[in-house]
Amino acid sequence: MRVLAITNNKGGVGKTTSAVSIGAALQRQGARVLMVDLDMQANLTNNLGGELELVSHVGDALIGAVPLAEVILTTESGLDLVPADFRLASYEPIIYKQKDYHTRLASVLATVQGAYDYVVVDCPPSLQTFTYMALVAADAYLIPTEPEKFAFDGLRLVKELADQIERRINPGLQFLGVFFTRYNAKQRNSMHAAVVQAVREEYGEDVLLPSVRRDAAVVQSQVHVKTIYDHKPDSNAAVDYAALAEIVRARLA
Ligand SMILES: Nc1ncnc2c1ncn2[C@@H]1O[C@H](COP(=O)(O)OP(=O)(O)OP(=O)(O)O)[C@@H](O)[C@H]1O
Ligand SMILES: [Mg+2]
Repeated sequence: MRVLAITNNKGGVGKTTSAVSIGAALQRQGARVLMVDLDMQANLTNNLGGELELVSHVGDALIGAVPLAEVILTTESGLDLVPADFRLASYEPIIYKQKDYHTRLASVLATVQGAYDYVVVDCPPSLQTFTYMALVAADAYLIPTEPEKFAFDGLRLVKELADQIERRINPGLQFLGVFFTRYNAKQRNSMHAAVVQAVREEYGEDVLLPSVRRDAAVVQSQVHVKTIYDHKPDSNAAVDYAALAEIVRARLA
């Protein structure tokens, strides 16, 4: 079982869209996939239609109140989901006070080890408690971003936190790379080139992954509460996320 965290402290860069689409692509490529929603906005949960019969959520598993296996829902897409909801906000201070809080997600995921090939974790737009736990539990992480002015600064912050976690707690943590979302080649501007250049210089060519094109099918699929593969499997975004999922499989093999 390999744990992949999708993270960026910047909001609205495509973390949730990337998590669900890469998860769905991995599943289509034959893997057993568990999705974990660590964001109190619960966008991933809503995207998978998992909010309907929510009895317990990820916070209950993290505080040890409910076994993880009992929190997992099977969604219409076939993807299994550890859902989140807005109540997660009130759990954060409780979780944070526990001495071993940072290893909590890793410990609960260990209880379903063997049932899945991949766990894909959607992080909130911050580098606090939940993102910390995700990076401690992860084998690898991906950073979706937009080609804009502050993208590189944000990237550096995530990378610094991950490097610190790698040194202190999780020596196996692997940076798989960064990719642009809502990419439009026609509107490619000098900022895009600048960000690409900065990433290349600081982290090397290997971490520059293929972009995901801006695609109205993404928004439509979310309106219909479907993954991009159940909505429009031949769309540009579906093709781009499948390519990213192939890279994930190759690098996490
Ligand atoms: N390739 C794409 N083409 C068009 N729209 C996209 C694409 N990827 C994401 N979006 C849209 O961009 C918006 C933000 O995406 P998303 O919710 O995945 O970002 P996020 O980083 O998870 O946000 P947050 O920080 O709030 O959790 C959504 O409305 C989504 O539909
Ligand atoms: Mg999100």
